[in-house]
Amino acid sequence: MSALSERPWLAWAPPVLVAVLVVAALQVGRSDPGVGDEVAGGSPAAGSGAETATAGGPALTVDPVDTTPTTGFAQREPTLPAEPFAYGTELPAHVDDGAVGGPPHQPLSALDTARAAPVTDDGATLGRVLFYDVNLSVNRTVRCASCHVQVHSFTDPLLFSQGVDGIRTRRNSMSLANARFNASGRFLWDEAAPSLGAQVLMPFVDPFEMGLTEQLLLDRIRERAFYRTLFANAFGDDTVTLERVSSALAQFIRAMVSLDSRYDEGRARVGSPLDEFPNFSPAENEGKELFFTPSIDGGAGCASCDVSEAQLTSPSGLDNNGLDPPTEVFVPPDLGAFEVTGDPADAGRFRVPSLRNVEVTAPYMHDGRLTTLEAVIDHYDAGVQPHENLSRELLDGDGRPLRLGLTGDQKAALVAFLKTLTDDGFLTDERFSEPFRAP
Ligand code: HEC
Repeated sequence: MSALSERPWLAWAPPVLVAVLVVAALQVGRSDPGVGDEVAGGSPAAGSGAETATAGGPALTVDPVDTTPTTGFAQREPTLPAEPFAYGTELPAHVDDGAVGGPPHQPLSALDTARAAPVTDDGATLGRVLFYDVNLSVNRTVRCASCHVQVHSFTDPLLFSQGVDGIRTRRNSMSLANARFNASGRFLWDEAAPSLGAQVLMPFVDPFEMGLTEQLLLDRIRERAFYRTLFANAFGDDTVTLERVSSALAQFIRAMVSLDSRYDEGRARVGSPLDEFPNFSPAENEGKELFFTPSIDGGAGCASCDVSEAQLTSPSGLDNNGLDPPTEVFVPPDLGAFEVTGDPADAGRFRVPSLRNVEVTAPYMHDGRLTTLEAVIDHYDAGVQPHENLSRELLDGDGRPLRLGLTGDQKAALVAFLKTLTDDGFLTDERFSEPFRAP
């Protein structure tokens, strides 16, 4: 019996239709149309492109246009400290000793990808400048930081981010905090990127994000004299290569460690995450207990999918959290990892993101459909939809979507607890901030 016939809802769609949909989705999201010439002021296709970019996606809600001014940035020089910032991070002891007496989870150092790919101060400094440089998009208006905003934990408050020519991305931007501990090594909502190093080059050549070609990217970097010093400091000489661009950006992102929230402050003072935290209000402590207590024991069971104490990611990386039922006419909003693997068992599965700084990363879910944490809690309380691939953690004893039956106070307590994961120091840390300041 084929995997397809085990999943009757998929059998609705003739495989050919599936293939057509997938190919269409991939072309919309990822193909490089061969942008070679610089297009000042944008291409005529801008308006229709915006529609295409979300075709087949969730109903397009029109966001307020991002007004972050980048005019005049193209000519600016970066302002950098005489001695590079120190980007190394000592992991706090509590993220490694937590396995004792707490729910099962992994010591963070075991997940730390910076052990194999070290971050140097000069490498991360170069990465910071590349991350904020508008010249690295075809019309010199978009940079990584356009869609990954520091005060929002490097995600985008817009439902869909705006790339070159005002074209919107198909999914909600992702936080970059603690990407370093994503030991699966795969990135993006559907894990299409095989590594962080590969991922950081993709937006440059994505026609909807930054619209360059690899050659144009290298040319743009070579245009600016200050990059010579930055490359020489980071790599020993000033040769500009894609590998070096990728390495520097990945180092900057790996340096983005967020482990200094009120949660961490309280956790450092007790022996287990299950103890009452002395710095928490009663509601925050109650929310924490609900978070860590499995649903069969009357809790909300949130910790079952967030395995390390940094509330990072699920063991597999991908999961289905019951946002959508499988659709009968097979025009689902977004098939998630299925679009990458073609495996029906991956339909509707997305990367489980970190909950660190979740207070400031709205809107939520891969398509940004939920605008508040209250709405997210309501989803897990009573809104989980049946799906062939629904996470086992979200099923009750009879194999039906779990209904938690939380009270209003319990929901408010969970939200209060989630807000203790906000790390204000990280969100304003100068090391990750705008280097292209006004003169
Ligand atoms: C136009 C908006 C936009 C720009 C510009 C942009 N990104 Fe993103 N980024 C996104 C969106 C949207 C996603 C999620 C896309 C998806 O999964 O399909 C994302 C995902 C990511 C991820 C994956 C995170 C994870 O945990 O899986 C990384 C890393 C990332 N971007 C880094 C960068 C870097 C580096 C740059 C600049 C070279 C950049 N982005 C430019 C919108 C943008």
